[in-house]
Amino acid sequence: MSSKIADLLKSEVSDKEIIVRGWIRTSRDNKNVVFINLNDGSTIKNIQIVADPAEFDKDLISKFCTGACLEVHGKLVQSAGSGQAVEVQASKIIILGEADPNKYPIQPKRHSLEFLREQAHLRFRTNTFSAVFRIRHTLTFAIHKYFNDKGFFNIHTPIITGSDAEGAGEMFRVTTLDLKNPPLNDENEIDFKQDFFAKETNLTVSGQLEAELGAMALGQVYTFGPTFRAENSNTSRHASEFWMIEPEVAFNDINDNQDLAEDFLKSVIKYAMDNCADDIEFLQNRELDEEKNMKKEDRHEMKLTERLDFVIDQPFVRITYTEAIRILHDSKPYKKKKFQFPVEWGVDLASEHERYLVEKKFKCPVIVCDYPAKIKAFYMRLNDDNKTVAAMDILFPGIGEIVGGSQREERLENLENKFKEFNIPEDELSWYLDTRRYGTAVHSGFGLGFERLIMFVTGMSNIRDVIPFPRTPQNAHF
Ligand code: 4AD
Ligand code: MG
Repeated sequence: MSSKIADLLKSEVSDKEIIVRGWIRTSRDNKNVVFINLNDGSTIKNIQIVADPAEFDKDLISKFCTGACLEVHGKLVQSAGSGQAVEVQASKIIILGEADPNKYPIQPKRHSLEFLREQAHLRFRTNTFSAVFRIRHTLTFAIHKYFNDKGFFNIHTPIITGSDAEGAGEMFRVTTLDLKNPPLNDENEIDFKQDFFAKETNLTVSGQLEAELGAMALGQVYTFGPTFRAENSNTSRHASEFWMIEPEVAFNDINDNQDLAEDFLKSVIKYAMDNCADDIEFLQNRELDEEKNMKKEDRHEMKLTERLDFVIDQPFVRITYTEAIRILHDSKPYKKKKFQFPVEWGVDLASEHERYLVEKKFKCPVIVCDYPAKIKAFYMRLNDDNKTVAAMDILFPGIGEIVGGSQREERLENLENKFKEFNIPEDELSWYLDTRRYGTAVHSGFGLGFERLIMFVTGMSNIRDVIPFPRTPQNAHF
């Protein structure tokens, strides 16, 4: 049985023979000694391998290059060098996989994140990306744990669907029709009756509508799945394929929904801090290093761990959309005409406005609720003013919108009116209306963009660097 480096680094020295396997990060040798820094992904830390060159073949030693994969047999001994308590004194080293130093692209120096995106198949082997993806895993686990502990049920909603839950028309089509020669109907339009599912289908933009059906029987449910959006926005916060967590709770109103979202975010961020301290510390130092050469105004005001602690400790500010517009109208950048996009009741907030509220005005996460009905999805509950809906967006420093949610319209008549207003054919979503026909009840939910959460926790500033193989416009390599 081989040992994991994470375990070895916590072990006492011993005469027992151990085996460790991993990839060389760096190595150096002289007449008297060979040093290898080996990493196996179990921790950000490497274990130092020490070997006596007299005991090993010269040819073998020449293959100890960055990126090569080794199996090392030896004993865990006290380290003579500083920086580690223990190291492995090797008695046998087997090269499992060589890495030609003239060709292997990941060298022991700082590579740019842009370069590493082109090497996405190998970037797992860097400190930065191994840290990010260990944190991604830990957050996944934390999310399932949070909901499981609270008695929620995870449901798997379909990836292929016939409905556009968000009504934004940003969907990727799924078809087996011959694109060169599609069958046509009497109106000379493509005849989707002859397609695989005998109807038009797409990749899902949200599991919410199906989650609502689950909540109206199981009470508290959540989805955690891939989501696809064909919006052509090439920003650092948008991916065409991303993961979304969507809890849905029967009998929760919009205030309960806000409480749940705030508690949930704080709890999973705390879990990551408690369980990924080494990785977060590494990423924090990396960020501080990067910011050394930046202008003061481009640097973060707080270190990564301070930002995380801050979000855990502070109550989120809660305001209405109408208040947000008033605050923006009173703001310096508005008066000095510094905003690029209009600030007007009825128009959606742009990212510059969201950032002003979070980073300048409140310096704290902000929940904005009660948006104008016209700019939000059809399923949101109409407020008594007949103008706004019980929507909520949670805005985070440096990220902008991280959560979007609402109390759902549970009244059949209101929903039917909305369908007419938004031109949604009722027969297509009659299954959705059935939950309002039979045993309807107040219910609420929200969607958390998983990658945006990971960006916040890791401090990475581009969504392409927190998902292993990003899908963005013009890019589906790997
Ligand atoms: O605000 P959105 O569109 O809400 C929904 O989809 C609802 N059905 C959620 C619900 O109530 N169950 O998306 C929710 C979150 C956003 O706040 C954002 O964090 C993330 O999903 N998101 C994206 N993340 C990465 N890339 C994109 N293109 C994203 N679009 C939305
Ligand atoms: Mg939204």
